[in-house]
Amino acid sequence: MFTPPDDRNSIHPADYKHIVFFTGAGMSAESGVPTYRGKGGVWHKYSWEDYALPHAGHELISNLENNHESVWIITQNIDGMHQRAGSKNIVELHGSAWRLRCDHCEIVIDDHNPEHYNNWKCDNDHWLRPDIVWFNDFLIPAVAQMADEIISKSDLFISIGTSGVVWPAAGFPQIASSNGATLIEINPEPSEQSGLYDHVLRGKASDMLKAIFGNPN
Ligand code: APR
Repeated sequence: MFTPPDDRNSIHPADYKHIVFFTGAGMSAESGVPTYRGKGGVWHKYSWEDYALPHAGHELISNLENNHESVWIITQNIDGMHQRAGSKNIVELHGSAWRLRCDHCEIVIDDHNPEHYNNWKCDNDHWLRPDIVWFNDFLIPAVAQMADEIISKSDLFISIGTSGVVWPAAGFPQIASSNGATLIEINPEPSEQSGLYDHVLRGKASDMLKAIFGNPN
């Protein structure tokens, strides 16, 4: 286990061809979006949409994407925080709270049009639903396949803020490991897969990302 705080810039992105960030609810915790499990989990008290903003960790990943040949984010989060920080290469495994979809017409609607919320109906009068993966839903096959292809190519796999209990996402670290990637876990607490990782950093997303990649500013 290496101790990042006094080992600034211990990761040199140029040493890696395909970098993958695999993020969970803990990545958004410092933006005020509650996690599901662990302290203060689940949405209650207030609606995060109104004020949550990306933090320095999101920005660092977005900057890295702009300065490296291949940086991808595979996220379980539906909050759109990575997009808000300017990242483009994103696979949203569990969908997005910012889209609606009509399973009948097989269309997805970017829901910046509040009108849809009046009647939750598509233009063909079919019920709309949030474009998110609910429990017992399967992942969208094309999305799962894209994530698998990107992770299978990765040589650096950094997991941030996931407890590793929800499948099939929880199987991704093993895919990266089987392909010989270097695996790093960032999480203040142990996860179900901690034993798989080459390096485990017990701290918050923004602190640990700054520690291993240096300050984004
Ligand atoms: N930085 C990094 N990690 C953090 C931070 C932080 N600031 N704060 C909390 N964590 C860690 C917690 O220790 C926990 O292990 O983030 C993890 C969040 O775990 P979960 O709440 O289980 O979230 P996640 O793994 O993303 O859940 C997976 O479950 O409920 C479903 O569909 C939902 O996508 C979600 C899936």
